[in-house]
Parts: sequence; C-alpha cells; structure tokens
Amino acid sequence: MDLVDRIGIEYPVVQAGMSGGLATGALAGAVSAAGGLGTVGLLDPRQLRVEFDAARERANGRPIAANLLVPFTTRTQLDTILAAKVNVATLHGSFDAGLVARLREAGVCVLVTVGTVDGARRALNSGADGLVVQGIEAGGHLLGVEPALTTLEKVRDATGSRALLVAGGIADAADTRRALDAGAAAVVAGTRFLLTHESRAHDAYKQRLLDADRTLETMLFGIGWPMRHRVVPNAATDRWCRNDPRGPAAVVRLASWTRGLHRLPLRTANVLTAIQHPLIPFYGPGAPLTGMPERRVDSTALYAGETALRIHSVVPAAQAVADLAGLTT
Ligand SMILES: Cc1cc2nc3c(=O)[nH]c(=O)nc-3n(C[C@H](O)[C@H](O)[C@H](O)COP(=O)(O)O)c2cc1C
Repeated sequence: MDLVDRIGIEYPVVQAGMSGGLATGALAGAVSAAGGLGTVGLLDPRQLRVEFDAARERANGRPIAANLLVPFTTRTQLDTILAAKVNVATLHGSFDAGLVARLREAGVCVLVTVGTVDGARRALNSGADGLVVQGIEAGGHLLGVEPALTTLEKVRDATGSRALLVAGGIADAADTRRALDAGAAAVVAGTRFLLTHESRAHDAYKQRLLDADRTLETMLFGIGWPMRHRVVPNAATDRWCRNDPRGPAAVVRLASWTRGLHRLPLRTANVLTAIQHPLIPFYGPGAPLTGMPERRVDSTALYAGETALRIHSVVPAAQAVADLAGLTT
C-alpha cells in the first residue's frame, strides 16, 4: 500500500518534528487538521503528554506523529509516545532496531531520517517502514551531505524502496511537485512550518529568518549534541564563525567531548540558553522560544534551511499545508 494511504493523510505534506518546544501540539494539531501530518517534537515526558493531548484535540481525529531524537530518547518518553497512540514516529540522529521494533509492535508507522545510501540501508535493515531522505539544504541537525533530490535518486536506485519522503528544500507547491515527480511519497518541511503562527519559535527568531540572506552549516551550537546543523547568522556566528563556518577548532573539539551527555540537551538546553552569550563560545542546542528574552536570538541557534531565503511571510499552519499541497494559487 502507498505510504501516504497507509498513514491516512489527505495531502503528502509532513511537518517536521522540531524538538525542545518549537513544534508543540498547537502546530502539529493544526497541520493534521488541515490534511497534512503534524508532528510533536521531543520534550520532557510530562510536557509531551500535554502536547499530544493538545495535538489530538486540534487534529479532528486525523493522524498525528511524534519525533524522536534517537540518542536522547528515554524509556519514559517512549512509553509516553506509545500511550499517546501516535500514528507515526519519525526518528532522527541514529539507528536503533529495538526502538523501531517496539514502535512497530504497537502499530506505529516508523519513518527513519537518513542522509546517505549507507544510512538508508541501515535504516531499512533496522525495520523502518519508510525513510525521510534529508538533503544538505535542510534546516536543523544534518544527516544530509548532498542535495535532497540527488540523495533521493541514489537511495531509490540502491534500495528500490518506494516509501521515501524528502526533507530539505521544500518551501512551496513547485518544490512538492518536483519531489513527488522524482519519486517521493511525500515531503517533509521544517522551516516553512517554523514560520507559522502556531510554531513556538520566538517572533524575533522568525524575523531573523525572514530577513536572512544566507545560512551556514556549523558545529558552533554543539555542546551536548555535536552534530552538523544549519542556522541563519546571528551575533554568535558573526563572532565565532568568521574564519570557519564550523566554528573555532577548540570549540568543535570541546563539543565532541560532550557526545556522551545524551540526556543533557532536552533537560538543560533551554536552561543553558539563559547563560549563553555572543562573546563566550559555549553553546548548547536550545533555540529561542516564545516567552524567552529577545536578546537570546543572538546567543542561541537559529535553525533554518536554505528555504528561509525564499520564504517571506509567517502564515497560519493550515495555509502552509495548502500552499505546499498546491491548493492555493
Ligand atoms: C528549527 C528546526 C528544528 C529541527 N528540529 C528537528 C528535530 O528535533 N528532529 C528532527 O528529526 N528534525 C529536526 N529538524 C530537521 C527537519 O526534520 C528537516 O530535516 C528539515 O527541517 C528540512 O529542511 P527545511 O527546514 O528546509 O524544510 C529541524 C529543522 C528545523 C528547521
């Protein structure tokens, strides 16, 4: 059966899970109610429960998804996700056959994010129902190493899988059409949905994306999660990424030593943002949320994909779904 039919969504449009409080129940529920697939990003278990309830309330009985950052997912979070009876789980950051099995046994459709053919093979071997093929133009943490549609073609040719979604470079209906024509079952958009009224990104963060004229791939915000990530510039990157977009070698090395602190980011990332400063190169992965002081946009990660350069307005999530699905002119 076609993956989109199996998931039971009207349009082949998926909102990326954005963890730490960016994509909560309000956004996920609005996307699902509009006929796409809304995804609640990873949070502490108590908050997760509240946000799944909020998503269900708004989704009008339509499917919802949970996003799991595999290295950080605890047993309690997994139990919370299973208890919420989400329809789909999107996994990112690593491979875990045991986790995939537990989700699938509970009837959850499991999609694993990959950026290479090797990753795709590992994910399919771990039992995934489908893959999210991420391109290097994507926002947030990067598995992608080449443009999304190039990777899609390679993964399709190497694995023969037809259950492939594309993430990266999806900002409008023409992008969706191109991805579907290239064989994708659906598209996944992060930045487009970050720039909606329902996302909990700070308004000043949204404005920085609207004003951006470039993005950079860096390691600067890697304390606790040393993985490549795409952001738009701010005072911190202007100060520390002048010579090398990755950031100073010593900072990248320090971040790599924190790889073992798997539980650190979700518990403390938002707390860490409070003490971060543009002049002190010690940055965790937390992003500026609604309600935080505005100055944090210059000392935290402003995750965004290349699509930020082509998106010029903050819209309701339902409109973003309609735009991506080609329902608007
Ligand atoms: C602000 C932001 C936060 C993100 N957080 C996550 C996350 O928590 N989990 C995840 O699987 N992907 C995350 N991503 C990556 C998305 O899943 C997706 O690959 C990406 O958004 C696609 O590129 P686009 O932003 O250009 O649409 C994030 C992306 C953005 C922009």
